[in-house]
Amino acid sequence: MSILVVLDGQYCPPAEPTVSVFDRGFLYGDSVFETLRTYGGKPFELEEHLRRLERSAELVFIPMPLSRAELAEELLAAIAAAGNQESYVRLMVTRGQGPLGLDPGLADRPRRVIIVQPLLPPPAEDYERGIAAISYRTERVADATSAQGAKIGNYLISVLAMRQARMVGASEALIVDGHGRLLEGASSNVFVVERGTLLTPPLEAGILPGITRAHLLQLADELAIPVELRAPQLSTAADADELFISSSIRELLPVVKLDGKQLGTGSPGPIYRRLLAAFRLRTRGSAAS
Ligand SMILES: Cc1ncc(COP(=O)(O)O)c(C=O)c1O
Repeated sequence: MSILVVLDGQYCPPAEPTVSVFDRGFLYGDSVFETLRTYGGKPFELEEHLRRLERSAELVFIPMPLSRAELAEELLAAIAAAGNQESYVRLMVTRGQGPLGLDPGLADRPRRVIIVQPLLPPPAEDYERGIAAISYRTERVADATSAQGAKIGNYLISVLAMRQARMVGASEALIVDGHGRLLEGASSNVFVVERGTLLTPPLEAGILPGITRAHLLQLADELAIPVELRAPQLSTAADADELFISSSIRELLPVVKLDGKQLGTGSPGPIYRRLLAAFRLRTRGSAAS
């Protein structure tokens, strides 16, 4: 089991400083990234993650340093070299380094970093008994800019939201906008079940187009679960029958407590269970192919 860092194609010791302090990813969060995991040692939906990375880079005008095929090859080699049973992978592209100053023209050339580490999924108990979450009112950094929906390096709002969650022992913070609408988690998409209908905010709400979310919408369709693309009000979410979050690393996790109050029956609901089972069938199946 090992942690492996690849900077611009060079394998580096993980504990040594390898990126310049003048890198704009460090200075300004001037970067884009992806987080993914393996199943059976193979990255799940690699093509989709690389596509989203390219889209994020395009939205913030960072040129991609390599083609999709070259990046895929580099990433697969890094996963193989790490030799973990299952890996958590982070892939970053920064605008590059240069003298202090906001002007993106000061950057020399984009830098790419791959970090591969052993996957540590949430404990089984979280899936069986559910987790606690808090709501966190904010406006997100990229809202109403051209970067809306991009996975940008500046996650400070999510970090602050998570800090608040951890202070009360919760595992996720759910982002609520100025209109009281529940948009997504600090690092997840959000789903609410209201009288048998699955609600999730539309991409137009500026949420990250989650790859797990897209699978869940497909699976809901296959399972004939009615879906409505709408951001629920926080008050609706608090009274919902079910609420759950989705992300590549955590898959689907049921939220059974919101802002200290029991949600639904206080146990993971039937729609969550059906979707989790279907998603696991799909992901575990992908490992065999
Ligand atoms: C803000 C945000 N929304 C949603 C997600 C879930 O996306 P995915 O399912 O592609 O991992 C993430 C994942 O990190 C995220 O950071």
